[in-house]
Amino acid sequence: MRKRPDWMLDETAFVGRENLDSAHVARYDDKEDAEATSEVELLRSLGLDSSSLVLEFGSGTGQFAVAAASVVEHVVAIDPSPPMLACLREKIAAGGLNNIDTVHGGFLTYDHARRPADIVYSRYALHHLPDAWKAIALARIRSMMKPGGILRLWDVVYDFDPAEATERFEQWCAAGGDTVGEEWSRAELAEHISDEYSTFAWLLEPMLERSGFRIEKSEQVFDGFGMRHIARAV
Ligand SMILES: C[S@@+](CC[C@H](N)C(=O)[O-])C[C@H]1O[C@@H](n2cnc3c(N)ncnc32)[C@H](O)[C@@H]1O
Repeated sequence: MRKRPDWMLDETAFVGRENLDSAHVARYDDKEDAEATSEVELLRSLGLDSSSLVLEFGSGTGQFAVAAASVVEHVVAIDPSPPMLACLREKIAAGGLNNIDTVHGGFLTYDHARRPADIVYSRYALHHLPDAWKAIALARIRSMMKPGGILRLWDVVYDFDPAEATERFEQWCAAGGDTVGEEWSRAELAEHISDEYSTFAWLLEPMLERSGFRIEKSEQVFDGFGMRHIARAV
């Protein structure tokens, strides 16, 4: 990871406690199905093919990167968590995959030296940045893409009125399990709300537009706690 200016947010410090925990990384794929096959199919319907260069920010254990690699020319999988990257590198070695690059970096520190990307993918990662840095990250992403390229952004985003926050947060936490294991626990959901930076849809969507994207599809998932966007680079 390149040296950051002293004013820049430290992506390593904001990576999320659990993402540096090897036990969490080891059980991640049992706990979270990233729906990679259907995500790749969706992107195929939007032009993803064997000539595509794909960047993934917050690649984690690489569910999407591995699924996309069988379809595209090249995937660059970027993540600031060493154990997450190690997990993906094991999958790459086990599968003999030769078209995924893994990069230790993040939204703010990845330097793109290849041709402009056709597709940028990010799932459940942008919420690790406070809002001003989200806007900067989105502008950086746009600068790495070709005009007409697609950004698929899926994140924990709050799609309800701030006045409802107490009730909604309580409801969400109540859906969590008692123990940290193969399901998301109440403690993990509470930690997400208190320590991470999920934003409201009405803040994120203008950020996307201001960064040079046209939102083509916006979809609420998980009863107001998730948003999936398809945004085109204009
Ligand atoms: C919940 S995991 C999601 C992994 C994968 N995208 C998925 O959907 O299963 C969040 C990932 O975002 C990564 N992350 C945290 N801060 C980041 C940043 N500033 N830039 C890029 N990725 C980041 C974490 O290391 C972690 O791998």
